[in-house]
Amino acid sequence: MRILVTGGAGFIGSNFVRRTLDSRPDASVTVLDAMTYAANPANLTGLDPARFALLKEDIRAADLVDELVAESDLVVHFAAESHNDNSLRDPFAFVRTNVEGTVTLVEAAARHGVRFHHISTDEVFGDLDLDDPARFTPETPYSPSSPYSASKAASDHFVRAYVRSAGLEATISNCSNNYGPRQHPEKFIPRQITTLLEGGTPRLYGAGDNVRDWIHVDDHNDAVWTIIERGEIGRTYLIGADGERSNRAVVGDLLEIFGRGRDDFVHVTDRPGHDRRYAIDASSTLALGWEPRYTDFRSGLEQTVGWYRANPGWWRETRASAEEKYAITEEVIG
Ligand code: NAD
Ligand code: DAU
Repeated sequence: MRILVTGGAGFIGSNFVRRTLDSRPDASVTVLDAMTYAANPANLTGLDPARFALLKEDIRAADLVDELVAESDLVVHFAAESHNDNSLRDPFAFVRTNVEGTVTLVEAAARHGVRFHHISTDEVFGDLDLDDPARFTPETPYSPSSPYSASKAASDHFVRAYVRSAGLEATISNCSNNYGPRQHPEKFIPRQITTLLEGGTPRLYGAGDNVRDWIHVDDHNDAVWTIIERGEIGRTYLIGADGERSNRAVVGDLLEIFGRGRDDFVHVTDRPGHDRRYAIDASSTLALGWEPRYTDFRSGLEQTVGWYRANPGWWRETRASAEEKYAITEEVIG
């Protein structure tokens, strides 16, 4: 099976590539990745060149995309501008990659009749109140709050439109917040872990009450394979692992892992439009036979801390540049 993986040099895409090559001896993988600031070449080292190739190019390069899609049996589309805070500073980059890039890919996949899986996010549904018992389902109306989630919502709509009007054989998955090794230090959990490894103090946006529904990246990608193999064309599947936690609780756990007091953090400037809570009802994916394996968040977090502790060369430089960006607007407020 020849698989084209877009964005395969980033956090979740590289995990997918590694898991796929490890678990499926019949698979060969081509990664198409523009190698933006979010990519790390170290994510893809040590892979068998007979079964793996990396092409450094934009997913909007229509001629190359057409050629690559034509020679593939499956396209798994991870490539995106993925960070909310950046989308508030430079929304157009999100339109270019997440919208134009996705349309370039679905055009080619529909033209060549190639199976397509689109990786999306629970953020397309907007947010939930902290005390609302509801969770997101595939029927929840779209209501994105940030330029990032608006661009991902647009990309989902394009995929659905191509299923309906161009016969695209696609499935979509909307997953909750991922954590695990190789996540960029601009994101919440690796930012706090690398701060603690450098002896600093964790930073909570606003009051820290916002809730995210955490899932380990291995579980996300196992669910993606389940949907590719058993999902119904044209359907949307939600992926989550019952991992709801407030940001304050996550920081408290991390502080404990580092032997510090649970309240040893600072509050910093809140994110404009900050979504309060995400929560996934994953029945659509559970019904296909998938189950998360990382059901103990604390031990998944400890394993992730262990990975960052053992790999300072992977994160030092990227952390420094992420912190430079944060320093422009972020202030300690308490
Ligand atoms: P990431 O930022 O770590 O990686 C994105 C990758 O896409 C990078 O390697 C980057 O170089 C590449 N890329 C960006 N623009 C490109 C372009 N124009 N052409 C080719 N490659 C390009 O992102 P991630 O956290 O691994 O997220 C991967 C996907 O999963 C995204 O679609 C994201 O929306 C989705 N998702 C992420 C999460 C999460 O918690 N991180 C949760 C649900 C869904
Ligand atoms: O829900 C899925 C989404 O999860 C994905 O689609 C996105 O690609 C991914 O980045 C993530 O979005 P979030 O905005 O939820 O993730 P982030 O890691 O940026 O922030 C998680 C929470 O932590 C959020 O409530 C903001 C807060 N936060 C973040 C940072 C970086 C802090 O309190 N302090 C911080 O320093």
